[in-house]
Amino acid sequence: MVTRHQVLVASNRGPVSHTLGEGGELTVKRGGGGLVSGLSAVKGDAVWVCAALGEGDREAVRRTGGELDPADTGGQQVRMLDIAPDVFADAYNGIANSVLWFVHHMLYQTPTEPVFDADFERQWRSYEAYNAAFADALAQEAAEGAAVLVQDYHLTLVPAMLRERRPDLRIGHFSHTPWAPPDYFRMLPDDPDGGVAAEVLRGILGADRAAFLTQRWANAFTDCCVKLLGAEVAVADGGDEMIVTHEGRRTRIGVHGLGADADFLRERSRRPDVEDRIALLREQIGRGPDGEPRRAIVRVDRTELSKNIVRGLLAYRRLLADRPEWRGRVVHVAFAYPSRQDLAVYREYTDEVARVADGINAEYGEGDWTPVELHLKDDFARSLAAYRLADVALINPIRDGMNLVAKEIPVLSDGGCALVLSREAGAFAELAEDAITVNPYDIGATADALHRALTMDAGERAERTKRLAAAATALPPTKWFLDQLNALRD
Ligand code: G6P
Repeated sequence: MVTRHQVLVASNRGPVSHTLGEGGELTVKRGGGGLVSGLSAVKGDAVWVCAALGEGDREAVRRTGGELDPADTGGQQVRMLDIAPDVFADAYNGIANSVLWFVHHMLYQTPTEPVFDADFERQWRSYEAYNAAFADALAQEAAEGAAVLVQDYHLTLVPAMLRERRPDLRIGHFSHTPWAPPDYFRMLPDDPDGGVAAEVLRGILGADRAAFLTQRWANAFTDCCVKLLGAEVAVADGGDEMIVTHEGRRTRIGVHGLGADADFLRERSRRPDVEDRIALLREQIGRGPDGEPRRAIVRVDRTELSKNIVRGLLAYRRLLADRPEWRGRVVHVAFAYPSRQDLAVYREYTDEVARVADGINAEYGEGDWTPVELHLKDDFARSLAAYRLADVALINPIRDGMNLVAKEIPVLSDGGCALVLSREAGAFAELAEDAITVNPYDIGATADALHRALTMDAGERAERTKRLAAAATALPPTKWFLDQLNALRD
């Protein structure tokens, strides 16, 4: 008998992933993040529908029929979908990560990219099929009148597809990315009678409520609905929500600025493995010529084009060039963890990050001083160690939906940390007042901001860190999730 659920979450990446060993054994890894904590607050029979991302996941689906063993998921009910590998690759690598991600983060080098050709058309059909597979599974799993929370740019077509299959459901969509302004968004094929741009907007408008991380991204979405679809927008709920009316349907638009998971982070960051790594990092950072511990400028990112890691390194180089007093007295601790390595452009970017870091070390390194400590191998405990000891955090994305690192560092900082923050990160809306804010393209201004951060008075730094931590934890993941669920059921 099929169990039917009252609360459903759908996202491309689920809460667990599997690796297939050479002897055929499966290892399960549980991921973290806002959704995992948020969903843990839902009591009862919630289910998470996600895609199998690799061979390990596919094997797990083969062995379980797709309903993962709750013993492997921390008790969470997870239904993993095995979508044909070529369809999945087209949808995930082709459309989601190479087109929609690039549009919303405005990453295209427009003289040559994007090109909407026959390959793109095939990939788009795969994206539709992949979204339809989610809509089918959700339609099957949902109880009468259930609430379904669909996540992110991978699944923009699901709300409208699911509404067609199950008009009784309450459907929400949440975007974890920025949203592009209409002049940029409409570079997608924009034939009003069925172009991709209109299909994405109509897909999301199939939801009862669509939500974003900041007002800025919500406004960009409604602007796209007005300019590309001719929809109408009105303010509702005393200004807290907007309503988009299109083809006789109304979709509510909300904003929920996901905050840091302070309880989890504080507990996790006090464990011995983190303490060990603090000691190791302190040793690597070492002491300057005056015998004082060197200052640490920390960044922790996926190696992601939108994170602007190369310009961050160039700004640090500029700091060393223009202000020789910092040579030997500061270390840039940069963790850039591999991401989306199926895509050549991500692999090339990873190489570029390493090349620029090596160049700085060759140019300025001296004696026991390594100016840039770049680490590419993912290590969560070491990231938390760096959060705790950072003197300065460098968060300079070109565009970012939120950037949780900007929120997590002030929460964990042991001695106060000055935050250099891009004005293009979603977190800017909540943290600008106590951060040193930068235009992420401006290397000189970023170098100056690093200098200001390094010279900030310790008392002021501690005060600002306290206020940043309070702002960063205003909406913890469980509340973030339950607010959306309640708003959807309203
Ligand atoms: C962003 C997206 C998520 C995605 C994550 C990692 O945060 O909003 O949906 O899961 O990046 O990217 P990946 O392609 O590895 O899932």
